[in-house]
Amino acid sequence: MAYEFILVETRGPVGLITLNRPKALNALCAGLIADLGKALDDMEADDNIGAIVLTGSEKAFAAGADIKEMSGKSYMDVYLQDFITKGWERVTTCRKPVIAAVSGYALGGGCEMAMMCDFILAAETAKFGQPEITIGTIPGAGGTQRLTRFVGKSKAMEMNLTGRIMDAEEAERAGLVSRIIPATELISEAVATAEKIAGLSRPVVMMAKECVNKAYETTLSEGVKFERRVFHSTFATEDQKEGMAAFVEKRTPNFKNR
Ligand code: CAA
Repeated sequence: MAYEFILVETRGPVGLITLNRPKALNALCAGLIADLGKALDDMEADDNIGAIVLTGSEKAFAAGADIKEMSGKSYMDVYLQDFITKGWERVTTCRKPVIAAVSGYALGGGCEMAMMCDFILAAETAKFGQPEITIGTIPGAGGTQRLTRFVGKSKAMEMNLTGRIMDAEEAERAGLVSRIIPATELISEAVATAEKIAGLSRPVVMMAKECVNKAYETTLSEGVKFERRVFHSTFATEDQKEGMAAFVEKRTPNFKNR
């Protein structure tokens, strides 16, 4: 299917979604969010895809929600439309792993969108920030919440109160991104990482993702109990038998469910 604001391709078992609104630095307008939701629906339904990479351009992953589109909205508009949550949360409900590959600006909604992904790989050019305060508003898609959990109160508060932008190195030190990659290799490395995940047992990958996400929603003791139950349930899969047998027999596992 043809999209207006994104490019979609598959690379082996990996779905690659590229935000593609270059003139607006990939500002996240309603049409782009709708395109993204449809692409994620299709990739989730496609058995040949095991993991997804979400990326932007060299200059911008995304420079935020579309300021021109939202500037004239009234309180009633945003309240009745449930602006900005509606549609955006689709990234967080995707059961297959979604990796954000961030080059250049990830500001406002762009930073929030990257944080909705399962982890962030960053080019050394990546810049993260929540500059909403500088345009008279606050983040509306998790910037005060997810950023605080990722980097702690002090940095999150400073970024939300001043709009200060964090470079890739600081973001890695603070735990916002998992790794920094040279800009020219960002996509190939992100796809290789997604491919590695797609080669593992799909149900077990989904279980691991569910467990890590649980850590953000519950207490430590409840999370550990949840993890143990899911760990036990991996023993009901053929892939656990195959994975452990392959280790013992010193061979590469051949997972059935991937
Ligand atoms: N919305 C709409 N258009 C945007 C945009 C945005 N968030 N960010 C950039 N653009 C547009 C610019 O208006 C410009 O378009 P025109 O050529 O038609 O004027 C084009 O993209 C290029 O941008 P610049 O000329 O500004 O490029 P630059 O290199 O000089 O600066 C930048 C880059 C620092 C990222 C700057 O564009 C910028 O500050 N953008 C806005 C960042 C921002 O405030 N984001 C938060 C948005 S609010 C939000 O996201 C709410 C939420 O929580 C969901």
